[in-house]
Amino acid sequence: MTGLFITLEGPEGAGKSTNREYLAECLRSHGVDVVLTREPGGTPLAERIRELLLTPSDESMNADTELLLVFAARAQHLAEVIRPALARGAVVLCDRFTDATYAYQGAGRGLSIERIATLEAFVQGALRPDITLVFDLPVEIGLARATARGRLDRFEQEGRAFFEAVRSTYLKRASAAPERYRLVNAALSLSEVQSSLSILIPELLSLLADRRHA
Ligand SMILES: Nc1ncnc2c1ncn2[C@@H]1O[C@H](COP(=O)(O)OP(=O)(O)OP(=O)(O)O)[C@@H](O)[C@H]1O
Ligand SMILES: [Mg+2]
Repeated sequence: MTGLFITLEGPEGAGKSTNREYLAECLRSHGVDVVLTREPGGTPLAERIRELLLTPSDESMNADTELLLVFAARAQHLAEVIRPALARGAVVLCDRFTDATYAYQGAGRGLSIERIATLEAFVQGALRPDITLVFDLPVEIGLARATARGRLDRFEQEGRAFFEAVRSTYLKRASAAPERYRLVNAALSLSEVQSSLSILIPELLSLLADRRHA
């Protein structure tokens, strides 16, 4: 595996989707092969599972069903997109990955962390992101941005306690493994967020170079 696996995490409205293009452009300007993708989704089949996960429905979704659908989509995404891209030396920039499962299905839905870890090992083997950028901001700012963006999906319809649990899980995971996580203050203006991201570029390039020479 010679590429670099970078994930973007954080609650709704934090700016992951807005800034992934910016990060991709920064890396491409240095000649890097970048694959931009997202979860749930990233392949036609996985995007169909995404629809099931995000579309509000009269039938409430069982939490275990939700968890298994997330990992089913992930298995497809890993096999079709992520692993081949890493094998050819690309940087994979993925908008949400398994940290989101710990935050949303674990802390949000209250599913057991051990069960998530078991599925993580089953679906991913030893593969974990090299770097995870956590876009952090107060819950009310993120929800206000997501609400202004339009109709709310199945997760965005959850209450405040759910999103507080999501945020604190991201922060706990980041502080438990500081070598992997980089916190981004996502409450700042877009230009301030982008300058904090541009500061990370040299480090990402050097990690990629090390990976290729290893
Ligand atoms: N730093 C910022 N300041 C103000 N508005 C922002 C900022 N970053 C993003 N936005 C706006 O907030 C909204 C949500 O941003 P975006 O869709 O990138 O969030 P997201 O993290 O991808 O959310 P989700 O998890 O729901 O996909 C968008 O309308 C975007 O233009
Ligand atoms: Mg988004």
